[in-house]
Amino acid sequence: AFPAIGAALIGLALGSIPFGLLLTRMAGLGDIRNIGSGNIGATNVLRTGRKGIAAATLLLDGLKGAVAVWLVVWLWGPVFGGVAAVGAVVGHCHPPWLGFRGGKGVATALGTWLALAWPVFAIAATAWLLVARLTRISSAGALGAMLAGTVAAAVLDAQALVLPVGAIALYVAARHRENIERLMLGTEPKIGEGH
Ligand code: G3P
Repeated sequence: AFPAIGAALIGLALGSIPFGLLLTRMAGLGDIRNIGSGNIGATNVLRTGRKGIAAATLLLDGLKGAVAVWLVVWLWGPVFGGVAAVGAVVGHCHPPWLGFRGGKGVATALGTWLALAWPVFAIAATAWLLVARLTRISSAGALGAMLAGTVAAAVLDAQALVLPVGAIALYVAARHRENIERLMLGTEPKIGEGH
């Protein structure tokens, strides 16, 4: 049981680093949780108007997910990569340091998928870009990416991938409940625009 618990803890610890909050605070932009949607992710950081910081948030939130999986796979083998992946996304969404109120997990999910199975990442990221380009809405891109990633995992591989990828996709989609409500009402803001 030790590797499974270790994998979950490594995932949770790395995932819970709130890069969006840290980078915006370091840039003197105040508390990102008081801006826009209040979310700590790259989409909301972009609402500060600072594209570079938003890009860095996206990259680092993704990288922490990938690093968690790579580290655990290196330590204990590929069987535990999925545990680290789920841990990282849960850690990002519920960081203990922020009273368990964190982000929505899109960038971190994609990062874990890159490390678990890069084609799943490639297909999901392409879906994000396509849907986001068509709709100009980040959450719509995210939901498209979660669906595409799950389908890709199912097509490319059997149980080993589908379980962690599907669980992460469902979880991330559930974190977008308010976004989904706004999407249905037609009030979800476009990328870079306010809330
Ligand atoms: O999937 C994009 C998601 O992060 C949306 O963020 O700030 O618009 O709720 P936000």
